[in-house]
Amino acid sequence: MLELKNINAGYRKKTVLHNVSATLKDNTITVIMGPNGAGKSTLLKAAYGMLKNVSGDILLNGKKIIPSPQKLVEEGIFMVPQGKRVFRHMTVAENIELATHFWKDKSVYLQRFAEVMEHFPDLKPRLNEQAGNLSGGQQQMVALARVLLNKPKMVFMDEPSIGLSPKLINDTFHKLKQLKDNLGTSFVIVEHNLKTLLPLTDWAYILEQGEIIYDGPSESKTLEKMIAAVFK
Ligand SMILES: Nc1ncnc2c1ncn2[C@@H]1O[C@H](COP(=O)(O)OP(=O)(O)O)[C@@H](O)[C@H]1O
Ligand SMILES: [Mg+2]
Repeated sequence: MLELKNINAGYRKKTVLHNVSATLKDNTITVIMGPNGAGKSTLLKAAYGMLKNVSGDILLNGKKIIPSPQKLVEEGIFMVPQGKRVFRHMTVAENIELATHFWKDKSVYLQRFAEVMEHFPDLKPRLNEQAGNLSGGQQQMVALARVLLNKPKMVFMDEPSIGLSPKLINDTFHKLKQLKDNLGTSFVIVEHNLKTLLPLTDWAYILEQGEIIYDGPSESKTLEKMIAAVFK
């Protein structure tokens, strides 16, 4: 469990997040929504230790930490950044194998690779193709497979639906739910594409102008009303 307490953060001249608190629970899909520019990506970056000048506390399983990407990776928390998902001129297999780059013990790779590929049957026949030839949805799966090789406890994803067709968005979100149910991996997803995603999530936040205005279950009449008001 990762807790953010009273986080203020932003960029050189501008504070974006104002006293943001959030609890990212284990075995949970959490969605962070909000209009463009609300600070959603900034929140992920602050939690992942990618920003300077962050005030407030970040606690991992009740213990205060100073977050950095390296520290979080050591703790099993991974980030699938927005946008570029694969190295287009490398094969699918090579893209997935990049996961091992920082591993001290690479001997577990083949076993883990086999386990992870069980979840991505569509990628199996395409392992030796250039990743750039795959559809956007399949490239997303390659990025996800790479992260899963590390047996993550929690995965941050920033707008995973960008550039995908509605069908692929639907497939991607259902895959995340399936992975949570089967492996117990938590996902923290920043997303504006809510129709498909929201029913698959457990907990929701709405961020508006850098402040949390909803923190509660994904299934709630209050949330429905707020979404209608915020995304009108
Ligand atoms: N690297 C940056 N430098 C300065 N300002 C930024 C930077 N990135 C984002 N911002 C500003 O911070 C605010 C929040 O941005 P962001 O977190 O990307 O919003 P969201 O992800 O909700 O669309 C916006 O006003 C944006 O212009
Ligand atoms: Mg963003």
